[in-house]
Amino acid sequence: MLLDKLFGLFSNDLSIDLGTANTIVIAKGKGIIINEPSVVAIKKNRFGKKRMLAVGKEAKEMLGKTPDNIEAIRPLKDGVIADFDVAEEMIRHFIRKAHNRNSFIRPRVIICVPYGLTQVERKAVKDSAYSAGARDVILVEEPKAAAIGAGLPIKEPKGNLVIDIGGGTTEIGVISLEGLVRSKSIKVGGDRFDQNIIDYMKKKYNLLIGERTGEEIKIEIGTAVPLEEELKMCIKGRDQLSGLLKEIEISSVDVREAITEPLAEIATALKEILEVTPPDLAGDIVENGIALTGGGALLKGIDIYLSKLVELPVFVCEEPLLAVARGTGAMLEDIELLQQAQ
Ligand SMILES: Nc1ncnc2c1ncn2[C@@H]1O[C@H](COP(=O)(O)OP(=O)(O)OP(=O)(O)O)[C@@H](O)[C@H]1O
Ligand SMILES: [Mg+2]
Repeated sequence: MLLDKLFGLFSNDLSIDLGTANTIVIAKGKGIIINEPSVVAIKKNRFGKKRMLAVGKEAKEMLGKTPDNIEAIRPLKDGVIADFDVAEEMIRHFIRKAHNRNSFIRPRVIICVPYGLTQVERKAVKDSAYSAGARDVILVEEPKAAAIGAGLPIKEPKGNLVIDIGGGTTEIGVISLEGLVRSKSIKVGGDRFDQNIIDYMKKKYNLLIGERTGEEIKIEIGTAVPLEEELKMCIKGRDQLSGLLKEIEISSVDVREAITEPLAEIATALKEILEVTPPDLAGDIVENGIALTGGGALLKGIDIYLSKLVELPVFVCEEPLLAVARGTGAMLEDIELLQQAQ
């Protein structure tokens, strides 16, 4: 026991995958200790002063269901910080929750941030971590963390290609000898799929649905390729014309039609990266295939869809939602990886 406690004093470093959809915290030697949606519920009093009501799962439950004085906010959107104050509060909350308060030593914190953050946004993330008690804050970018998390042999002189499809962005990176040789980030991710489904239901069925229903439809019956037996689902929403609530049955064919465009954008970005990948590294990719990470990799058939378009093997890594977090977590243990990833 005593030894455990003493050891705890020296091993309280944290890694955080600060995603636009989910935030995952790993404590050195302990594994994943927090895995929650990046959502904050805020209550405004009569004078407009904001107070944090809930963070994470509890706050996500409130999305689209709040009374006027309560707001459920996603502080990161489309791979950028949409609300600075709330983002800072959220980061502080997660670090404080994760940090072992019995420890005297303040943690070192590695944070994997969306690729497109500006210098100002990166500074805001760092400042929030410092004000939550971090001793040292190191920011790393997503493609390399994803590749490490997917278990790719990035230390070898071989080309590795990883596509991370998150909530806000899709990042594609070619990595060799721990370095990012080519990369590309587009503002297309799970959120865009959801939005396209919402727009489609409105246009085709005059049905108004919210963000959460859009996501549920995608997860339950979304597919990138035709299925032998197409799936069906009953959804509820408001009829745009009559204003009344109604329920309709939709199928996976509808959803596939709805998400054609964001899927094609991801495929185009992948083709562009392949076109500029040095030939020797391209040879390795032909042999080893392309790894998919991020929650978007769970869309049914997305591996088959991409594989057909680029005529290369594509595989979904194990537990894609956790890949970036695990890759960032690995940097807690491997200082060499960390130095290369900044
Ligand atoms: N089974 C599933 N099928 C399709 N999409 C899914 C599935 N499960 C989760 N997703 C989607 O994955 C996305 C979240 O993925 P992830 O947690 O990797 O994003 P993030 O890291 O928070 O975002 P980013 O990397 O863009 O900052 C959401 O859009 C979610 O709807
Ligand atoms: Mg991510």
